Amino acid sequence: MPLKRIDIHNFRNLTRVSFRPVHGFNIIVGCNGSGKSSLLEAVYALGSGKSFRVTQVKPLVQFTADRFLLYGEVQRKDGQHSLGLEKRLNGEGSVVIDGSRATTTSELALLLPIQHVGLDDFQLFEGGPRIRRRFIDWGVFHVEHGKNSALFRRFERAIKQRNSGLRSVKISGGERDAWDSEFLRCATSLDDARQAYLDRLMAAYRDLCARFGDVPYANQLMIHYSPGWDQKLTLKEALQRPGSMERERKTGITQAGPHRADLRMVIEGIPARDILSRGQMKVLGHLLKLAQIRVLANQHNDQLPVILLDDLVAELDERNVNKLLNTVREFSAQVFLTVLDTKQLPSQQHWLGEAEIKLFHVEQGQLTEQPFQE
Ligand SMILES: Nc1ncnc2c1ncn2[C@@H]1O[C@H](COP(=O)(O)OP(=O)(O)O)[C@@H](O)[C@H]1O
Ligand SMILES: [Mg+2]
Repeated sequence: MPLKRIDIHNFRNLTRVSFRPVHGFNIIVGCNGSGKSSLLEAVYALGSGKSFRVTQVKPLVQFTADRFLLYGEVQRKDGQHSLGLEKRLNGEGSVVIDGSRATTTSELALLLPIQHVGLDDFQLFEGGPRIRRRFIDWGVFHVEHGKNSALFRRFERAIKQRNSGLRSVKISGGERDAWDSEFLRCATSLDDARQAYLDRLMAAYRDLCARFGDVPYANQLMIHYSPGWDQKLTLKEALQRPGSMERERKTGITQAGPHRADLRMVIEGIPARDILSRGQMKVLGHLLKLAQIRVLANQHNDQLPVILLDDLVAELDERNVNKLLNTVREFSAQVFLTVLDTKQLPSQQHWLGEAEIKLFHVEQGQLTEQPFQE
């Protein structure tokens, strides 16, 4: 499901960029600070409303402008769709899909799933639980044609209502019970969906490990799901514990549930971050991200993500680069890959196969298409 065209306006140092990528490999070349990652970040934002580098809008808007605009055309089995995203410094913004205003950015994600594989993938091990929840929820959201996408909205609404119920004295017991039940229903569904997804993910991960061969610690890595409450109790029981109720009264915040979940990454019974080097974490992080794509690819559907590979080629050795590129090619997805110099890429005969390729050169935010020569 590729992006056929993308227009970028006032996004970081990309003042006005418009281009037509191919379904296969789009190689983005340029020196440091030229705008390669910004280009990937713009594609990512069009499919998610967010950045993979920052949480605020301000750094994304070109210094001299008051908003950025992104527009893209996506080809799917059911036809072509247009996606528009505008974000302003004053906090306003809009999402437009096929000419009509959409209410949430998750509608972008359904039409344009994006997987970003980058140098910060070690954060899956070193970062906080929020990063791992985002990782697993990406998969839960996209699996089986986005069948769980509505569940996330329902869960967000339910926890907001429950929290505001905790803070308000005016709410009747009956109303509180109704919100509690809705929260428990959504929490259980989300919990089930995550557990089921993790099983599929690990199966795909094991397949990939077999294919990559001797990646240190890859086979020993285990991932355990911590649901966000004491597993000896049901969620209802956990919420009804006196200590928990007391804290909820004080803080007005739901003390247990999927919003507190985490993935425990373990090697030989020890937290993986206490064993792995930064470099090893990166490689295992990349493998986990690829495994997420594999889960979607296994479904033989139209839901393959666009894959963004930012600066990976420079940091991996040639054997691993070859495996990475071959694995990615076999997904038959659309790929955007940044590299300082095409010389860093292994010879095409080792990885490109029949896939299409286009080369784009970026210099001070200007993009030009160039013929690809080895
Ligand atoms: N909001 C912004 N407005 C204008 N330029 C920006 C903004 N944010 C970052 N930049 C600049 O954009 C350039 C491109 O950065 P980046 O895409 O990370 O480069 P690359 O990945 O090619 O090394 C950098 O020089 C950076 O300083
Ligand atoms: Mg970069």
